[in-house]
Amino acid sequence: MSDLQNNQPAVADALNALLADSFALYLKTKNYHWHVQGPHFRELHLLFDEQATQILATTDLIAERVRKNGAATLRSVGDIARRQSIKDDDAAGIKADAMVRTLAADNKTLLAQIKEAKAAAEAAGDIATSGLVDGWADETQQRIWFLEATLGY
Ligand SMILES: [Fe+2]
Repeated sequence: MSDLQNNQPAVADALNALLADSFALYLKTKNYHWHVQGPHFRELHLLFDEQATQILATTDLIAERVRKNGAATLRSVGDIARRQSIKDDDAAGIKADAMVRTLAADNKTLLAQIKEAKAAAEAAGDIATSGLVDGWADETQQRIWFLEATLGY
C-alpha cells in the first residue's frame, strides 16, 4: 500500500463532500441567475453566471483527484443529495439581496470544506490535492468578496 492510500478515505471523503456541495452550489447559483429580479437584474444575472461557471469548472478536477487516489467518487444526483450540506432553495420570489446574502454564506461553507480537504490532504501527504485546493480557496474567497461588496459590507 502506498503512502497516499494510508489516509485515502479521509481525503476521498473530504473531496466527495466538497464535490457534492460544489454541485449543489452550482445549481443554486444558476437558480438565482435564472430567477433574480429587480433594479440590479443585469448585474446580478451576469455575476451569478460567472460564479456558477467558475464553480462547475472545479467539479471534474475534484472528482478526478478522488479517482487518482483510488477511491470512488459521486455517481448520481441522488449521491449529491445524500452528501450535500449546502441546502437547496426551491422557494419562489426570493429578493435579490437575499440571494446575494445566501450565496455569500454558502460560499463560506464551501471554503470551510476546502480547508478540511486541505487538512486531510496534508495529513495524508497528498501534496497534489493539497496544492490543487489552494486555487479553489482563492476563487471561493473572490466569490465571497464580490457578493459581499455587492451588499455594501
Ligand atoms: Fe444563462
